[in-house]
Amino acid sequence: MSDSHVYPVMPSIAQKAHADEAKYQALYQQSITDPEGFWREQGQIIDWIKPYSNVKHTSFDTGHVDIRWFEDGTLNVAANCIDRHLKDKGDQIALIWEGDDPNDDATLTYQALYEHVGRFANALKAQGVKKGDVVCLYMPMVMEAAIAMLACARIGAVHTVVFGGFSPEALAGRIIDSNAKVVVTADEGVRGGRAVPLKQNVDEALTHPNVKSIEKVVVYQRTGGDIDWHNHRDVWWHEVTENASVDCPAEEMQAEDPLFILYTSGSTGTPKGVLHTTGGYLVYAAMTFKYVFDYQDGEVFWCTADVGWITGHSYLVYGPLANGAKTLLFEGVPTYPTTARMSEVVDKHQVNILYTAPTAIRALMAKGNEAVAGTQRNSLRIMGSVGEPINPEAWEWYHSTIGNQACPIVDTWWQTETGGILITPLPGATPLKPGSATRPFFGVQPALVDNMGNLLDGATEGNLVMLDSWPGQMRTVFGDHDRFEQTYFSTFKGMYFTGDGARRDQDGYYWITGRVDDVLNISGHRMGTAEVESALVAFNKIAEAAIVGVPHDIKGQAIYAYITLNAGEVPSAELHKEVKEWVRKEIGPIATPDFIHWTDALPKTRSGKIMRRILRKIATGETGSLGDTSTLADPSVVDKLIAEKESVV
Ligand code: PRX
Repeated sequence: MSDSHVYPVMPSIAQKAHADEAKYQALYQQSITDPEGFWREQGQIIDWIKPYSNVKHTSFDTGHVDIRWFEDGTLNVAANCIDRHLKDKGDQIALIWEGDDPNDDATLTYQALYEHVGRFANALKAQGVKKGDVVCLYMPMVMEAAIAMLACARIGAVHTVVFGGFSPEALAGRIIDSNAKVVVTADEGVRGGRAVPLKQNVDEALTHPNVKSIEKVVVYQRTGGDIDWHNHRDVWWHEVTENASVDCPAEEMQAEDPLFILYTSGSTGTPKGVLHTTGGYLVYAAMTFKYVFDYQDGEVFWCTADVGWITGHSYLVYGPLANGAKTLLFEGVPTYPTTARMSEVVDKHQVNILYTAPTAIRALMAKGNEAVAGTQRNSLRIMGSVGEPINPEAWEWYHSTIGNQACPIVDTWWQTETGGILITPLPGATPLKPGSATRPFFGVQPALVDNMGNLLDGATEGNLVMLDSWPGQMRTVFGDHDRFEQTYFSTFKGMYFTGDGARRDQDGYYWITGRVDDVLNISGHRMGTAEVESALVAFNKIAEAAIVGVPHDIKGQAIYAYITLNAGEVPSAELHKEVKEWVRKEIGPIATPDFIHWTDALPKTRSGKIMRRILRKIATGETGSLGDTSTLADPSVVDKLIAEKESVV
C-alpha cells in the first residue's frame, strides 16, 4: 500500500487524546508482557464493591477452557453506569432519544435514568424476577430498552435481548434455550414510518409448545395500537412502574456472575447463547469506549446499532454509560424520511462521535450528496465503522462526505463473542489506511495461522486467532460448555479461533478479509448458512437446500439459495414468493434469500457431502476456476447448474 493511502494522525486529535502513539506503544507492550499488572491497574476504570485480588485466571487448553477475570471482586453494573455519576453529573444528560419521526425526541439526565431504572427494577422484582433469572427483552429502540437492560443488571437478573426484527419462531427458540421467566416488549415498534407488531409476535412465540418458562409479559406502550391482551400474563409497563419506588438497592454481584446472554449465529446448528459476565465485560467495554472513540467529557456519542446486537450492548449502553457519556439512541433508519436523515440527526444533536456500519455508509454513498443535503456535520470529531469489512471507496466517501475530511475513522473489528473491540485504530495514535482495522487494542494478541494451525510470521495472510484472553471475552455458550470449546478452541489447539480470515501487511496492520467458515454477513448481520438451510427444509415443499453468500454492493453479501423441491412440486413465481415469505416467518427479514436457484441436483461427494466450494463459484459466476470436481458422485451436475443459473432471480 503506497503512502498516499495513509492518513497520518491529526495533531489536533493527538494533542488531547487519551492515547498518542508513544502511550499506545508503552501500554500495549505492558499489556502483553505483564497482563496481570496491566489489568490490575486498568480494572480500576470501574468501581468495585469488594476489590479483586485475583486478576487473570484463563486457559485456552482444549478440554479445560476456563476464562475468569477479577474473580474475587464484586460490583454492580448499573451502579457503575448510573449511581457513581450522580454526584458530579446527576443533572447532565445520559440518554438522548431521537424518534423515527424527526419531531419526536427526548432526553434523560443521569438522575432521571437512575429513577427510571430503580422503578423498573422494583417492578421486575414485583413480577417475581430474582437474581439469576433470565429476562428476555424484545424491544424497539426506545429509552425503555436501555432502562430494562440496566434494571436487570441492577437486580442481578440476566437479560437476553432479541432483535425486534426476528420472527416469533426465532424469538421462541431463544426463550426456550434461555429459559426466560419474563418477556419485556412493546405494543408496537416504529421504524421507517411503519409499525412493527412486537406484542403480536410475542403472543405468537408464546404459543410454541416448548415455551413453558414465561410467567409474565411486560408491555411498554409505544404506539397505542391494537393488541390482544391476556390478563393472567400481560402487564403494562406504565402500570407496574406507576407506584414502584425509585429506590432499589444495587445487588452485589460476583465478577463472574452472568450479565447477559446474546444469541448469535454460527456455522452449525441453532444460534448459540453467548454468555458474558459482569466484571471483565464492563472493564473491557468501558476501556475500549474511552480509548477507541477517544471520548472526552461532555461529548455526544451516537452508535446507530440496535440494542439487539452486541454493538448496541457494549457501545450504546454499557461502554458509554460506564464512562458517564451522553449516548444517543435512534429509533429509525438512516434514510427516513429523507436520505439525509443521518446527517440531520448529527446536526440536530450536535453529535461528536458517530459509530455506524459499512452497509449504511454504502447505502448513503449510493445517493451521493443527497445524503448530506442541507447539513453541516461540523460537530463531528471522530467516526467509527463496525460489522463487516469496509471497502476503501466507502471509507473514503465516509471520510470526505460525511466527515468533511476532518475526522479520523476507527474501523473496529470485533465479534459478539469478544464483548468489545479487539482490533482498531486509536484516533490519536494510529495512522489510518482505508480498509484496514489496523492494530490490536491493549491486551489483545492476534495471530495468523495456516490451516494446520502453524503460526505465520511477517506480512502474510491466514486464519485470524487470538493467543490469549482479554477481559471482555465470552465465558461459555449458555448451557453448553462443550460447544463453546468445540466451536472456538478445537480448530487450532490452544487458540481462540475467530472464524475470520485476515491479511497482515508490512506495518503489522490487519486487513480482515471476511469469514472463512459457513457464516454469512448480510448488512453487518451474522447469519449461519445452516440456520437458513434448516428453515428452508422445514418448508413442506422443499427436499433439500444449500445456501451460499454472493457479493452485494450495499449489503456486503447477499443470500443465494439452491433449492431442490419435493417430487411433484414445480418451481413458479408463486412458490418463489412463498419460499421467501416462509424464511421471513421462520427467522426474520434479514435471512430472506435474495436469489433462488431451483435445481434437482446438488453437487455431492460420493459420501453425500455437499461441495459448497463449487456452489459458491457457480453463484458468483467464477465457473472458470471450479477446481477439482472429480470427487463428485456425479460430475455432470456442475454443467447443469451452470446452465440453470441463467434463469436465477
Ligand atoms: O466477520 C467479522 C465481521 O463481523 C463478525 C462478527 O459479527 P457479530 O458477532 O455479529 O458482531 C458484529 C459487530 C461487532 C466478525 O467475525 N466484522 C465485524 N467488524 C468488522 C468485521 N469484519 C471486518 N471489519 C470489521 N471492522
